[in-house]
Amino acid sequence: MSFMKPDAADVTNPRFRPWAKIASPTANLAQTTWDLKQREEVQARNEKYWLDKGHTPIPREIFEKHPKIWLEIGSGTGGYFLDLAKKNPEAHLIAIERCKIRSGRMIQKFVKSQLTNIQGFRGNAIPALITGIPSESVERIYILYPCPWPKNAHRKNRWYLHTVMPHLIRILKPGGFVIWASDQEFYIREATFVSETRYSLKTILSGEVIPNEWNQLVEFPSGRTSFEAKFFSANHPCFELISQKL
Ligand SMILES: C[S@@+](CC[C@H](N)C(=O)[O-])C[C@H]1O[C@@H](n2cnc3c(N)ncnc32)[C@H](O)[C@@H]1O
Repeated sequence: MSFMKPDAADVTNPRFRPWAKIASPTANLAQTTWDLKQREEVQARNEKYWLDKGHTPIPREIFEKHPKIWLEIGSGTGGYFLDLAKKNPEAHLIAIERCKIRSGRMIQKFVKSQLTNIQGFRGNAIPALITGIPSESVERIYILYPCPWPKNAHRKNRWYLHTVMPHLIRILKPGGFVIWASDQEFYIREATFVSETRYSLKTILSGEVIPNEWNQLVEFPSGRTSFEAKFFSANHPCFELISQKL
């Protein structure tokens, strides 16, 4: 079977979702704990690499200028954030997407909307998180349907096990939220475990995506993002986690 990047896959077709077969239904939490313990050296190396490059895709000033910032990492074509920007004019929304085509579409959409409270960037969120975002400057971070990296050998790429995760927590204001969604139950379960035990975040909710005041699914019956819409139309259950920094 030829390998296809999960990002590029047609998620409605099980043949193109190789992780559906591999992912363990129960997260291996003992192994996760071990990963978290031996991270310091790798983390220092990763930070040095990006600091030496001296580049961040998002200008730092934006975070200093706006008091209420919501950040989406891996925003795809940005449709959900555009809707949120319309509904929340008091918030300033920033979306970052690495893929050239998706970020191009996203930026086009944002510019066309003429909204002044949303900005899209093409780039890698990792250097942005490490070098470019001041501490305690972001009120909400959205990570919706990231690649789950289900193979054991790749687990360090899962956002919550990645060495950039301490920065994700650092940039969050006290009282701020991290909002996750995935089609993989193990991913949300493991993210909940790591958020609570390693980062002392409070779990506001963790479980299957059903309409609630957080996801406001009543307003997005066919799904908030394009990946969510594809999973919903294939009747594939989705899962979410809302964590709060105390
Ligand atoms: C599976 S897609 C989900 C897109 C969108 N959130 C949705 O739900 O439709 C994951 C996205 O994350 C982006 N991504 C992955 N790693 C990234 C990184 N380090 N920085 C920015 N974007 C990233 C990918 O390019 C991809 O578009």
